[in-house]
Amino acid sequence: MASIGVGLIGLGTVGSGVVEILRRHGEDFSRRAGVQIELVRFADRDIARATALGLDETAFTTDAAELIADPRVDVVIELIGGTGAAKQIVLDALRAGKSVVTANKALMASSGQEVMDAAAAAGVDIMFEASVGGGIPIIGPLKHSLVSNEITSVAGIVNGTTNYMLTRMADDGLDYGTALAEAQAKGFAEADPTADVDGLDAAAKIAILASIAFNSRVTVDRVPVEGIRHITPADIAYAREMGYAIKLMAIARRSTGGIDVRVHPAMIPGTHPLASVSGVYNAIYVTGDAVGETMFFGEGAGSLPAASAVVGDLIEVARHLRSNCLNLVGCTCNEQLPVRDIADLEARYFIRFAVADKPGVLAAVASRFGDHGVSIASVIQKKVRESGDAEIVYVTHDASERAVRAALDEISKLDVVTEVAAVIRVEDL
Ligand SMILES: NC(=O)c1ccc[n+]([C@@H]2O[C@H](COP(=O)([O-])OP(=O)(O)OC[C@H]3O[C@@H](n4cnc5c(N)ncnc54)[C@H](OP(=O)(O)O)[C@@H]3O)[C@@H](O)[C@H]2O)c1
Repeated sequence: MASIGVGLIGLGTVGSGVVEILRRHGEDFSRRAGVQIELVRFADRDIARATALGLDETAFTTDAAELIADPRVDVVIELIGGTGAAKQIVLDALRAGKSVVTANKALMASSGQEVMDAAAAAGVDIMFEASVGGGIPIIGPLKHSLVSNEITSVAGIVNGTTNYMLTRMADDGLDYGTALAEAQAKGFAEADPTADVDGLDAAAKIAILASIAFNSRVTVDRVPVEGIRHITPADIAYAREMGYAIKLMAIARRSTGGIDVRVHPAMIPGTHPLASVSGVYNAIYVTGDAVGETMFFGEGAGSLPAASAVVGDLIEVARHLRSNCLNLVGCTCNEQLPVRDIADLEARYFIRFAVADKPGVLAAVASRFGDHGVSIASVIQKKVRESGDAEIVYVTHDASERAVRAALDEISKLDVVTEVAAVIRVEDL
């Protein structure tokens, strides 16, 4: 049996999971792939990580370039993350004729085209299943099993940290700060939670999924993004009263004007399968013209789930190497669809105001909405706050984001309006 040499760069959370899975099942994998898969070199900044994993220290290096240049290395696994050194490593490995497996969403969402082009030029594989949804298979299914469809939408919960926080806020009434502190204490959120709570992590993932689903490159900088910092237990309670749940949604839809892609908190129907995805779990709901509706569910992060996808990709590459058919699918972005301006979005909106508790306020607010062609589906007037202000909630019919923003700009300047407390899109999915 021929043997395939693997060089692993990054022995952190996911890298250590890869080592563990290869140890547990390496022999089986070699049988399944028809080739011996051998971890021949590894790199990290600190040899202590290799020692802790019981790896052969003589196969360790701190120099990724040395690993790439090693003739025994046929496949490079990049698990350091980020877009700096990782980008160089991935491009250098591809240009050296080595296939690459990565879990790096930041890299693929920002420089995916450059990376895919380098792989095509060298005639090698680039695989990145773990970059979206951790252990959930989604890139493979979109590129292979669902390729017979015209995909109309991909909508998902792709960030476990924020889903955990929103679940705790909904189930136990925690406020945002307490939910974040708890997520950090449990290791679900970083000390700097920006990438998660501001939606940036989810934006990178939906950029990757949109590119594959619609065969047209979407980079992360084109994804309008709004995080969950402003979500309050009050909004969650209103949502529940209306039969909805609030989730941080990553959405990509094929539309007449191009691709509608975005990340923001949304009210989704409580009866939709995505509403029951709780805690750190992720799920991606894909709709295709032939298959109908499908949902991919599982653990979106963590050492072994992410490593499950990485090792799955590795075995696929080993099969390709064995049968000498690398870069069979490659880049599938053979169209150039425009990404729509979010101002052109048509959606329903939940809008919560604090207003002076006096006659005529409702009419004043409603007339500004009317001036901009925003039609109101329902109005809920709730308790008077301690300050003496009243809280009113409007839910609009389908309206353009541009019109809603223009109306809100005027309404926020009315003397009787103390605060535009929340604006949340309602997605009936
Ligand atoms: N963690 C997850 O659940 C998960 C899930 C899906 C995808 N991913 C992706 O997987 C990748 C790895 O994530 P991770 O959580 O495993 O990260 P991690 O725990 O921080 O591990 C990264 C390792 O790479 C090392 N490293 C950084 N720069 C290096 C360099 N230039 N040369 C050699 N080693 C270097 C780091 O050392 P230092 O710590 O000393 O910098 C660290 O040991 C990222 O792209 C991430 O987005 C992670």
